[in-house]
Amino acid sequence: MKLYSRDTQTQVKHMILTQYLDTWCGIIFNPKMRYLAKQRLSSGQRFDPHFVYVDCFSSIGRYAGDKHRSSDMVEGSPIIGIRALDRLVESTRKDEIPIRVNSILIEKDRKIYQGLLETLSIYEYANRVRETNDFACLRPGEIAVLNADATKLVEKLVGYTTSGFTWAFYLLDPYGAGIPYDFVCPIVRQEHHDVMINFIYEDLSRKAGMARSDKVGAQQRQQVENWTAVFGNEEWKNTEQEVRQAMHQATDSSDNEESKRVERALVDRYNHVLRRMDPTLAVKLVDLQFPEKERTMFYLFLTTHDPTGALSLNKTLYNAKLWEQEIRSVRRLSKEMEETGQMAFFSAQEHLAEPTAPPRPTNDVIASDILKRFSGKIATRREVYRELVNEEYFPEEIDKALGLLKKRNKAHFEGSLSHDKPPIQFSKS
Ligand SMILES: C[S@@+](CC[C@H](N)C(=O)[O-])C[C@H]1O[C@@H](n2cnc3c(N)ncnc32)[C@H](O)[C@@H]1O
Repeated sequence: MKLYSRDTQTQVKHMILTQYLDTWCGIIFNPKMRYLAKQRLSSGQRFDPHFVYVDCFSSIGRYAGDKHRSSDMVEGSPIIGIRALDRLVESTRKDEIPIRVNSILIEKDRKIYQGLLETLSIYEYANRVRETNDFACLRPGEIAVLNADATKLVEKLVGYTTSGFTWAFYLLDPYGAGIPYDFVCPIVRQEHHDVMINFIYEDLSRKAGMARSDKVGAQQRQQVENWTAVFGNEEWKNTEQEVRQAMHQATDSSDNEESKRVERALVDRYNHVLRRMDPTLAVKLVDLQFPEKERTMFYLFLTTHDPTGALSLNKTLYNAKLWEQEIRSVRRLSKEMEETGQMAFFSAQEHLAEPTAPPRPTNDVIASDILKRFSGKIATRREVYRELVNEEYFPEEIDKALGLLKKRNKAHFEGSLSHDKPPIQFSKS
């Protein structure tokens, strides 16, 4: 089976996935949970946490290498997911906490599916693979692999990942059109379910153009309707019109500015669609660019019910923009080198400029934001995190701001902060 090289945006996507999975495991299996686990086990009580990685659009699981970077084989999302769960199991081994992990990999295309099985053998997982959709029969560590249409399996998947003491991480990463509302909704709204969705803006922007035209054929009309299935209704088709009308009334705007606003409006609309699926859901997103153009290729939407998880994702997504800059400049430079035959690639890397990090909000800014919201109240740190879940702050930035408020006598608490204690008494702002 022909293997492809991994492009810039896929490299960044995989970095985000790896970091998100590690953060997810770390937040759920935190020191408090470990402590509780040990207590329960030592008193003979049952403790059976179960972690499941579900890769609904798996593909083959490996790439020939990174474009313009290395020629060695690199792993795709199925292997990234399996490894993250194996790292979690490894981290609990010394405490002798038995946790169960399983992965489910789904690929519709028969040939690619065969390639995926081959990949799992290459990475030495063959003895853990079960070609089954009877998930309940999986033994700890086993990997269910299915040659199927994932969108037809939602009930079965959610039935499995909501049973027992289970946490699930779903990756929804198709090609082309987005993923139907009816498939996404039952997954994202479950407690203990984190989801990463690839929202392919490149395709949406083309279909938005077609939606306005009378000259499209039946096949293209169907492609437009696939996006209606993603948004759950037809309203998205009016977005472009609404933005253009609003802009023409306001100023003389450039085409570029106009298409940026249309992009923003379509992405906001999808953000609202997700939030409406479950008002308690935190939704984060990041745009990833085409390798050689200043244009968005896709957005990754990340959903969680955990405020600490959501704030930690801010950091992952902030880092992702730095990785993207770096990988894109390596690509640009090494391409130039290849074309001119000037210098070996590795010396080219030495000539790279440091990526420019966007500024962060200062402790002062975050502290006054917190004080404004909690003036005169008593709250735990967990409540502060929950209140700030839709902001861009990192958890450690919030902690520093709380420390600053304490130093200024605007927040009062004893000892060091954890999620549920001590309570924080805020002064009136
Ligand atoms: C973008 S690729 C996935 C890449 C992979 N997540 C990675 O990062 O390595 C999408 C894959 O989904 C498969 N696919 C498309 N529709 C599907 C469906 N309804 N069910 C399962 N797989 C599907 C395609 O054949 C393709 O291999």
